[in-house]
Amino acid sequence: MKLMVTGGAGFIGSNFIYYELKHHPEDTILCLDKLTYAGNLSTLEPAMKNSNFQFIRGDIADREFVNALFQKEKPDLVINFAAESHVDRSIEDPGIFLQTNILGTGVLMDACRTYGIKRYHQVSTDEVYGDLPLDRPDLFFTEETKLHTSSPYSASKASADLLVLAYYRTFHLPVSITRCSNNYGPYHFPEKLIPLMISRALADEPLPVYGKGENVRDWLYVEDHCAAIDLVIRKGREGEIYNIGGHNERTNLEVVKTILKELKKPESLITYVTDRPGHDMRYAIDPEKIHKELGWLPQTKFEDGIRLTIKWYLEHRQWWENILSGEYKNYFNTMYGKRLHQ
Ligand code: NAD
Ligand code: TYD
Repeated sequence: MKLMVTGGAGFIGSNFIYYELKHHPEDTILCLDKLTYAGNLSTLEPAMKNSNFQFIRGDIADREFVNALFQKEKPDLVINFAAESHVDRSIEDPGIFLQTNILGTGVLMDACRTYGIKRYHQVSTDEVYGDLPLDRPDLFFTEETKLHTSSPYSASKASADLLVLAYYRTFHLPVSITRCSNNYGPYHFPEKLIPLMISRALADEPLPVYGKGENVRDWLYVEDHCAAIDLVIRKGREGEIYNIGGHNERTNLEVVKTILKELKKPESLITYVTDRPGHDMRYAIDPEKIHKELGWLPQTKFEDGIRLTIKWYLEHRQWWENILSGEYKNYFNTMYGKRLHQ
């Protein structure tokens, strides 16, 4: 089968590409990525050596380009990771979130309708459900929880989900959706909580914790997310939504303190800063459906996953230092400018 992975130069998409190349060597993968600030082609360097892998630079919201690509490549499965993904950026400038996350999803699905596919899979987020109160630990998001978004980011993701379900009902496009909790692991862009705290702690810089640091996230090791998506695209039912999460709730302060302890850095680095506007209090997934239907369970405990992640950041300093210095932006032109489609 030929998989088209959009947004594969980002955090989860790249991990998914490595997961697929390892577990399904019979398949070929075409990565379509615009290489925004969050896309880093050096992340895919090892994949470039695999003859089953191909990279194409392009925008999922560019209809003409996407149609021409589908006509030429005719993918069997499309897995859409491409998105603007940072809540804080969506508060600063929502426009591009609407463009990529909503319109881009529509363009991809129209191409799927025109050229035919076995499955269009939308990688969504638990943030579409809004948040849960801290004093109700008995509550979890199920697939039936109503959409109740807080940020322009989550609103754009929820809008895309609705569009995907509409294409299923109206056009019978074979779709599926996964809504996952917060991921962590290798290749996580250092603007997000965990890699930001690791890189700043290593530099003995203050660690900016929003508000009181009491907000709760349900952390999942990225490889477990990839395994879940792999199951859903191959064995999940069409037209269905599957929640993904590992009952791994931690307050932000707990996460930051764990990182400091692992790195043997003092808690005095923690600096409380003004809270994020509209900051969601707690996310918590009920993953019962994917467990019962597809047998998925997370394999990596948080204590192990965070150690693996810290080890990865220590062993791949160049990767994130190039991001912090801006050097990674030159990578495409230096290494691939002459060789790849732009
Ligand atoms: P990321 O920001 O690390 O990567 C996004 C990738 O998409 C980048 O490579 C970027 O270049 C590419 N991209 C952006 N706009 C594009 C466009 N118009 N056309 C083509 N490519 C484009 O994001 P991530 O954290 O890897 O998230 C991937 C997906 O998973 C997103 O849809 C996000 O909503 C979802 N998700 C993320 C998390 C998480 O914890 N990070 C949790 C649940 C769901
Ligand atoms: P983030 O990684 O941006 O993911 P999301 O907002 O999608 O859950 O943030 C995770 C949590 O960490 C969230 O509650 C906001 C908080 N946070 C901080 O306290 N300080 C920071 O510098 C960042 C980036 C996030």
